[in-house]
Amino acid sequence: MTGFIEPAPTQTALLLLGRGADADSELGVDCPGELPPPSAPDLVERARAAKETLGESLFILGHHYQRDEVIQFADVTGDSFKLAQQAAARPDAEHIVFCGVHFMAESADILTGDHQRVILPDMAAGCSMADMATASQVEQCWEDLAEAGIAETTVPMTYMNSSAAIKAFVGREGGVVCTSSNAERALRWAYERGEKVLFLPDQHLGRNTAVRQLGFSLDDCALYNPHKPNGGLTVEELREAKIILWKGHCSVHGRFTLDCVEEMRKRTPGVNILVHPECTHEVVAASDYVGSTEYIIKTLDAAEPGSAWAIGTELNLVRRLANAHPDKEISFLDRTVCYCSTMNRIDLPHLVWSLEELVAGRVPNQITVDPATAEHARAALDRMLNLP
Ligand code: 13P
Ligand code: SF4
Repeated sequence: MTGFIEPAPTQTALLLLGRGADADSELGVDCPGELPPPSAPDLVERARAAKETLGESLFILGHHYQRDEVIQFADVTGDSFKLAQQAAARPDAEHIVFCGVHFMAESADILTGDHQRVILPDMAAGCSMADMATASQVEQCWEDLAEAGIAETTVPMTYMNSSAAIKAFVGREGGVVCTSSNAERALRWAYERGEKVLFLPDQHLGRNTAVRQLGFSLDDCALYNPHKPNGGLTVEELREAKIILWKGHCSVHGRFTLDCVEEMRKRTPGVNILVHPECTHEVVAASDYVGSTEYIIKTLDAAEPGSAWAIGTELNLVRRLANAHPDKEISFLDRTVCYCSTMNRIDLPHLVWSLEELVAGRVPNQITVDPATAEHARAALDRMLNLP
C-alpha cells in the first residue's frame, strides 16, 4: 500500500489574502498585535501555558480545515454545524477562541450570551464565498423577486458561509440558515413554507442538494448573478424556477474537476471518491459519496481496512485523515495543493498571541455583531438548530 502522496505546490496555494483589505469584507484586516515569530521554539509551550492559566474561562473551537499546529489546542473540533452547536452549549466559557473563519465566529457571537467574548485569532481569516453576497445585493435580488411577483411565495435560505447581515435578512423574511450537514432538512423545511427557495450564496450546495436529495431537475434551478440586472434572468425564468441559486462558489472546492475524478478512477481502480457538496454538480454526480467535513471523517472511520479513497476537500483535513488511517489508501483528489488560504491564516503565532493577550487581561480581535442584526440572524440560526 502506498503512503499519502503530497500534491504539488501551486503558486497561489499559500497566497495571503486580506492584508489591508476592507474591514466590511469577510477578508478582514491586518492583525494589530506583536506576533511571535513563527520560528520561536517555545510556541507550543507558550500556548499550553496560556491555556492552562485561562482554565475553564477559555473554550477553543477548531474547524476541521485548521492547521495541525492549531487543531492540537482545540477543545472541540467539528464542521461548521457542530461548532455552532458547541458555541451555543458553553455558557460558562467567558472567552471563546474560534479557530475557523470570520462568519463562523460571527455565528458563535450571535449564539452566545452577552457575558461571553468571541475571538478570531487573525481578522484576515475570512471566506471568499461569503464575500460573494453582500447585504445590498441580496436586498436588490429580493426587490427583483417582488417585482416578478414571487417574493411572497419564496423562502430565503442561506448557507452558514455568509455574513451576519445576510443571516439577519433571511431571519427577517422567515427563512433559515443551513450548513452542508443539514441542507436537505433545511430545504424540506423551506418547501413546507413556500413554493420557491432563494438559496444564498453557494450555488453548488444549493444545486447539489436540490437535485440529488430533493429530486429536482437541473432545469428547476435558476442562477441569479448579482452583477447583472435582474440577476441576468427574465421574469419568466424567475417565475418558473423552483430554486433560485445565488451565483457564489468556493474557490477551494472549485479546483476539483471531472478530469480529477476520471484520472483518479483510472489510476486507482476500485477507488471510492468522497467529496464535499461545495464541489460542482458534475464532480458530485461523478463521485461515490458526498457530505460535510464531519460526514467525510465518519465515512473514513467506518471504511474497511485496505479500501482506497480519494477525497475532494481541503488539504489540511485530507492529510490529517491520511495520517489517522494508515490501514487505508487515502489520496487527495486534486494533483496540486488546495488549502483554504484564509483558514490557514490562523497559525500558531496568532493563537499564542491571542491567548497571551487574554492572560494579560486584554481581549484581542473580538468579533461582535450589533444587537439588531444579531436578533434577526439568531432567528434564522435557531430555526436551523431546531430543524426536525
Ligand atoms: P462544513 O460545513 O463541512 O464545515 O464546511 C464549511 C466550509 O467552509 C467548507 O468549505
Ligand atoms: Fe470559504 Fe471555501 Fe474556505 Fe470554506 S473552504 S472557508 S467556503 S473559501
